[in-house]
Order: sequence, then C-alpha cells, then structure tokens
Amino acid sequence: MSQIKNVFNFNAGPAMLPKEVMEIAKEEFLNYQNSGMSIMEMSHRGDHFQDILDKAELNLRKLLDISNDYEIAFFPGGATLHFSSIPQNFLLENESGAYFLTGVWAKKAKEEATKLGFKTEILYDGKDSNYTHIPNVFDESLLKNHKYIYITSNNTIYGSRFIQFPRASNIPLIADMTSDLLSRKINVNDFGFIFAGAQKNIGPSGLTVGIIRKDLLEFPKKPIPVLLDYKVYFKNKSLYNTPPTYSIYIAGLVFEWCIKMGGIEKLEAINEKKAQLLYDFIDNSGFYNAPVEKNARSTMNVVFRLNDVKLEKVFNEEALKNNLVGLPGHRDAGGLRASIYNAMPIEGVENLIMFMIHFQENNK
Ligand SMILES: Cc1ncc(COP(=O)(O)O)c(C=O)c1O
Repeated sequence: MSQIKNVFNFNAGPAMLPKEVMEIAKEEFLNYQNSGMSIMEMSHRGDHFQDILDKAELNLRKLLDISNDYEIAFFPGGATLHFSSIPQNFLLENESGAYFLTGVWAKKAKEEATKLGFKTEILYDGKDSNYTHIPNVFDESLLKNHKYIYITSNNTIYGSRFIQFPRASNIPLIADMTSDLLSRKINVNDFGFIFAGAQKNIGPSGLTVGIIRKDLLEFPKKPIPVLLDYKVYFKNKSLYNTPPTYSIYIAGLVFEWCIKMGGIEKLEAINEKKAQLLYDFIDNSGFYNAPVEKNARSTMNVVFRLNDVKLEKVFNEEALKNNLVGLPGHRDAGGLRASIYNAMPIEGVENLIMFMIHFQENNK
C-alpha cells in the first residue's frame, strides 16, 4: 500500500475526522464484531445496528447532558433539508417564525420558509456589517406572536458565532448547530430544536443529528410529506425507514472519541486555545487581518485576509505545497478560512502559524 500523505486538513466540511476513529472504522470495515459482514451490509433492524444506534444516542445524551424531556434522531440528508421542514413542522398558515440573519445559512433557511408560503420576520440582518457582527444582546420586545426564533449558532462561512443565545420566555429557540455542535458547552434546555449536519464535528456528510423538546412534536401542522415529518422520525427512533447506517456508525465512534477526549468541556478548552493562538497571531502580525468583531469570533472557522489581498492566491498555492489544505474562503465570502474543528490537533494550528510567519517574511 502506498504511503499516506501527511496533510493538515482545514476544509470547512466535509472536514477532517479524528484519526483514531478512522483507524477503528478501517479495522472493522470488512468484519464487524466477527460477523463476517460490514455494517454497511447489515439489516438496520438487526441486533448489531440497534446496538450501534442505542449507544450513539446514549453517548450523545451523556456528552450534552440531554434530559428525558428531549428526543434524539438521526436524519438522512443534509442540514439544508431542515430549512424546509422546520416551517412545515412548526407553522400553520398565518403563523410566523422569527429569523436572525447572521449569515448565508440563516438567510437560506428564511428564504425557504418564505418560498413555502409561511410568514417570517427578520429580527436582525447582518448584511450591513458584512456579517462581522453578532447581536449577542437580545431585545425580547421585538417578538410578537412568533412560533419560534431561528438562529445559526456558528456561521461557517463568515466565521462568526453567537456567544450569548437569544432567549424568550415562551418561544422555542431553533438552532442550526451544524458547525459547532460538540465544540462547546451548551445548555440543551435553552433550545426547542437543535439540528446539525454531521460533516464538521460528527461524521460523514448526508447525515443530520436532531434534538427536540418533546412538546414541540405536538405543534399543530398541515399534513406534510412523511420524510419531512419530525414526529415520524423521533417517535420511530430514527427507524421509520432505512437510515444512513454507516454514517450513524461513524457518528457513534466520534461520540465515543469525544468522551475519551474528556467530554465537551475539555474539547471546548482545546478549541479556545487553538483559536486564540491563531487570532492572536493574526491580530499582531500587521500583515494578516481577521474581520469578525472580537466578541463574535468563531472558534471553529477562523476567517482571515491578507492586508494585500492580491497575495491570497499565492498564499494558497504555497500553503498547498506545505501540505496545508482547504484554506481558501467560501465562494460567497472570498479570503481565507482555517476550519479547526474538534479533530484538528493543536499541531495543525502551530504548523499553519509557522507557515504564515514564513510567508509574511518572504512577502513583506
Ligand atoms: C451552518 C450550516 N448550516 C447548513 C449547512 C448546509 O449543510 P448541508 O450541505 O449538509 O445541507 C452548512 C454547510 O456547511 C452549514 O455550515
């Protein structure tokens, strides 16, 4: 077998997964627990898979301290699917959802609700600040009879995040946590519905994890397609139809890895340290800059620019030669972005900074 190329992978998603998880998956690929079969080849209603599913749910509960007031489900399909299923599950005609437009993904979620004929209200639009600001203080008087408040907790593209989540006494908070679930401590009880596409901190793309407060499953709604109906997924414990079994297996291994790493508090401390190293270097460099306001900076997606933007293309080419991959910013935002999810070791960030120092010295 050829030698595996050693790279540091800063892709925003699909993103790097923990090496230890990949090793276990490789080991078990052809012959899961001496069954003579791969998980991919097994029935989703058999004992092996049921065990994987139960353990995955249990470990996720443990990691996020999720009470029995909440149900967990694993959905096939990406996070985008939920932009359409959320209004269909929680709104009737004439009812309205309130949206914080802090980035591309929240905007897409709002547009989907509007397209389907539901009412929406914009509580905040970050367009004017080019999405570098987050309203961490929330004025509850903005709310009327909204059925939910919708946020993207971490903006993968612009590299910003809520540090304080908006809270309203009687209105459930719905959060797209695709790019920060499992990266920091949250109180699940502050949310009505959390969903997260797996491809950052959880597992392969095309799988979405959902956590819902049980009473939200009883919201009145019009008949909707069965595979968009949250009640169907949660009540059938992710087994209404054939779920993405192999992806759930990988997610289960990642949850075990998170527990072995010391749980969310430990991972959060490492993430803070990695991000701080990188932001401090950028802020003090006089050559690079990070546009997002300091009290809104993401620890998962560090967005930065070169003061001389013309050099960004060469920066990327040189980075690739140094085995630092995935650094170009999103096509909507441009610039550069280092995605440093849970699986990125601190050495990856240190290597990136070393490279940035050399690049600066050679190009000033
Ligand atoms: C915050 C956020 N929400 C939603 C999505 C869309 O996810 P998917 O491509 O799985 O539909 C992404 C994709 O990266 C994301 O970062």
